Amino acid sequence: MSPDQLRQIFRRILSRVSADALPIAPPSEEPGELPTLCDGRHPAGIMRADFSELHGAGGYLARMAHFEAASVSAFTHLAEELDDLQAPLEYVERAKKAAREEVVHAHAVSALARKRGAVAPSPRLKPPPLRTLEEVATENAAEGCVREAFGALVGLYQSVHATAPDVRATMQLVADDEVSHAALSLELHHHFTSRLDGEARLRVEATRDRAMGEILRQAFAFEDAPWRDELGLPNADVLFDLAREFKLALADA
Ligand SMILES: [Fe+2]
Ligand SMILES: [Fe+2]
Repeated sequence: MSPDQLRQIFRRILSRVSADALPIAPPSEEPGELPTLCDGRHPAGIMRADFSELHGAGGYLARMAHFEAASVSAFTHLAEELDDLQAPLEYVERAKKAAREEVVHAHAVSALARKRGAVAPSPRLKPPPLRTLEEVATENAAEGCVREAFGALVGLYQSVHATAPDVRATMQLVADDEVSHAALSLELHHHFTSRLDGEARLRVEATRDRAMGEILRQAFAFEDAPWRDELGLPNADVLFDLAREFKLALADA
């Protein structure tokens, strides 16, 4: 699937999902640490950072910038692994391009956070050694085809609905690239599964299915935040609809 085809699918989903659905609970108090929904590709071996001082819109953006910075390593490592696995050079080059784009995202989102008084902690990593085809395929299925791809859809939503113009502008840039990264993951998925034997393929597909289930659980877990509109984040109802439509559209892609 090309990035443009995926963009069309995501735009159709956004047009179907109600933008003004009532929140499950009205915005009230500062919730605990919310998952960052559009934040690139989490690398294997990332160490947990201390987010305890990151609150509000700035804190959310700082956590997001932290994971965008980590995504640079994720794609650099993926490019090395693709090279090692003798994948087509085109995929290696696209992974390297994605790494360069994640650098831009990390800077842009860090700037949004700093404007709101929050500083993104630098990611610390213990990258794994180069992995087998099935290991790379498994991570790509969950992290690329599901988590980062769903993040791209949420990012597109934010690029339209954020009330803060600087957030809208940044999310337009970020989400457009994230859709390309998701499209790469989907293409890689087909490439990897075509090279795996039947049992390994089933294990990879099962991982992807589980990740889809996690997305739906995340929708329920996401609570409203007083600054949700500033960042254009979907409320729980909309997030659930997005997750359901995403699952329907991409389950077999
Ligand atoms: Fe990104
Ligand atoms: Fe990305």
